[in-house]
Amino acid sequence: MTLLDRSPPESLRERNIPVLATERLILRAPCFEDARTIAALANDRRIAENTLRIPHPYGLADAQSFITAANASDGEIVFLIARRGGDVIGGCGIARFGEEPPEIGYWLGVSFWGQGYATEAVRAVIDHAFGDLGYDAVAGGARVSNPASRRVLEKCGFQWTGVGLYRIRALASSAPVDRFHLDRRRWAITREDGRQRAWAQKLERA
Ligand SMILES: CC(C)(COP(=O)(O)OP(=O)(O)OC[C@H]1O[C@@H](n2cnc3c(N)ncnc32)[C@H](O)[C@@H]1OP(=O)(O)O)[C@@H](O)C(=O)NCCC(=O)NCCS
Repeated sequence: MTLLDRSPPESLRERNIPVLATERLILRAPCFEDARTIAALANDRRIAENTLRIPHPYGLADAQSFITAANASDGEIVFLIARRGGDVIGGCGIARFGEEPPEIGYWLGVSFWGQGYATEAVRAVIDHAFGDLGYDAVAGGARVSNPASRRVLEKCGFQWTGVGLYRIRALASSAPVDRFHLDRRRWAITREDGRQRAWAQKLERA
């Protein structure tokens, strides 16, 4: 049996990728039925040029390769971001390379930008990284020309550490990327602040 023959429930069981639920979103491992949706969402230069590895143009074969490789190695967890109710709106993942803190990455289909979905998804993944996986730090990056991504990281508590040059596949060249870091202590403080804010808003509405 090839990987492509595997049914989604079987492939999910093999690596035991969790399903993360937030107020509006479900984060789950990709399965082969998602290929067309991923190809349609990710085929946009504004997404490719702001991520390291997404090619442009992005076709069905790219989505199939992505799904085949997703969650195949222990150092990486790949989620699709879906709205409760079902429709897939983007992707998010965390990958560890060597001894460095694991790196978070995320993207959304353009029509879903500006509604707080990325922040909600990133919060769920970092809660999983610190809570269930026991990591002590998580790294992130945003091109210096990408204030929305920078803001997502800041809202989740990440702190700027400097700028590095990174190769962007869709540009076929390198570009400056702001680097961010979140440690366990700051994650806990940011999370508690968020809880208290949510609680205060609930009281105000009551
Ligand atoms: C980056 C990305 C994931 C953001 O998704 P999103 O769901 O729109 O993000 P959110 O709505 O959770 O938060 C975006 C924040 O950036 C702010 N923002 C958006 N455009 C901005 C701009 N041009 N200047 C300053 N702030 C901006 C928003 O106002 C919001 O902040 P707020 O809640 O304080 O108002 C999305 O734009 C995307 O997929 N981009 C392409 C891929 C990418 O950049 N990935 C990240 C690199 S790993």
